[in-house]
Amino acid sequence: MSTDNTQTFPEGAGNGDARTAASGPAASGIQDIAFATGHYSFDLAHLAEKQGIDVNKYYIGIGQEKMSLPAEDEDIVTMGAAAAQRIIDRNGTDGIRTLLFATESGIDQSKSAGVYVHGLLDLPREVRTIETKMACYGGIGALQMALGIVARNPEEKVLVIAADVARYDLETSGEPTQGAAAVAFLVQADPDILAIEPAQGVYTLDVQDFWRPNYRNTALVDGKFSVGAYLDALVGAWHDYRAHGGVDFDDIDWFCYHQPFTKMAVKAHVRLTEEAGTPLEKADAAAALAPTFGYNQQLGNSYTASIFLGFLALLDSDQEIPGERVGFFSYGSGAVSEFFVGVIQPGYRDHLRVQEHLGILDAREPIGYDQYRALHPGTFVEAQENFTTERRTRSPFRFEGVEEGSRLYGRA
Ligand code: CAA
Repeated sequence: MSTDNTQTFPEGAGNGDARTAASGPAASGIQDIAFATGHYSFDLAHLAEKQGIDVNKYYIGIGQEKMSLPAEDEDIVTMGAAAAQRIIDRNGTDGIRTLLFATESGIDQSKSAGVYVHGLLDLPREVRTIETKMACYGGIGALQMALGIVARNPEEKVLVIAADVARYDLETSGEPTQGAAAVAFLVQADPDILAIEPAQGVYTLDVQDFWRPNYRNTALVDGKFSVGAYLDALVGAWHDYRAHGGVDFDDIDWFCYHQPFTKMAVKAHVRLTEEAGTPLEKADAAAALAPTFGYNQQLGNSYTASIFLGFLALLDSDQEIPGERVGFFSYGSGAVSEFFVGVIQPGYRDHLRVQEHLGILDAREPIGYDQYRALHPGTFVEAQENFTTERRTRSPFRFEGVEEGSRLYGRA
């Protein structure tokens, strides 16, 4: 663990050293964070049984146990609104002038999903609301935009939502890595949970590893190629991070990676230690990352939300980590990636929601293979005719159906 609390950054590099914020400009970062997910859970044991393969390919090989699935009256808007409602209930709306909604699984080509959330939560009209898109990177892109807004005016707060339904074609390599979840968090100056340091490592390369044309409900992916593209992007973002004032590998206490499946993070950590630190074997890398896995193993891939669920798992774990540095690596296929670091704030535990989060996992309704198959197509691409949805969700918000091409939402 790092003991150096006096790390400084170059003059004018951003919001000052988060660990020494008292002597410099106020650091900004995450004040509060919560998640929501779909109504159903599907154990990968059912999928393995149907496929006639050993379930340990999923439980151990890719490190996934279950996936969440939305009910037909749920989608990214209802999940995002449910997560954001928890943030508003605790913090109010004072100072929030921007709502950023990050998603890969957008429900409209024009209107931001955030505007529907804005209406459902009855937020003040004096708010700018935007959707960000770059595959799984969109959530971290939104976080960086939020930090920029807060740096410009530390009185302002930004509500960020990252929500996705990850859906691949049946009987493809991606099928066991589907999932659904939303994370909402509040970005502000002088935060109580995570202060984000100014150095950023960024990397873009035009690669065709995972994409979803407008006419498709399901993503297309070149699975093995995407793993290599992720690892190359990690190395690229890490070197850019170091070239822009980032701390040494050994000064970072925890690593939180985008987790399309949790084993991907293990591969990434092995690669990063080869590049930057003392090379770790797979088992040691897995042990070092284990506190970040709990939620994603149960929820499946949630694209933009996945990295934040890794962070939430670390926060909600029994580790006591005030003052420690967390390195974040976000990867959005296509591909854009970023590495940056945040510092856990003293007293962060007073702001957690551990029981609430465990309750959300437990409240899901388990389903078997036939029901999973029936739910798999989803509703949004084929929704060209009017329809109403069955009432299923336990979320405070419902997707009610489609009328004259408009999606209808309401309180449950
Ligand atoms: N017990 C234990 N382990 C087993 C096993 C068993 N019975 N059977 C197989 N395994 C192991 C294999 O040895 C392998 O381990 P290693 O990766 O350590 O070699 C692991 O299980 C997976 O087996 P396969 O490589 O045969 O699996 P696959 O080819 O069927 O699927 C995948 C792997 C291609 C990555 C697939 O999960 C996929 O297509 N996923 C979707 C794409 C994806 O998530 N890519 C990640 C990077 S892109 C990104 O991050 C953006 C995003 O969110 C999509």
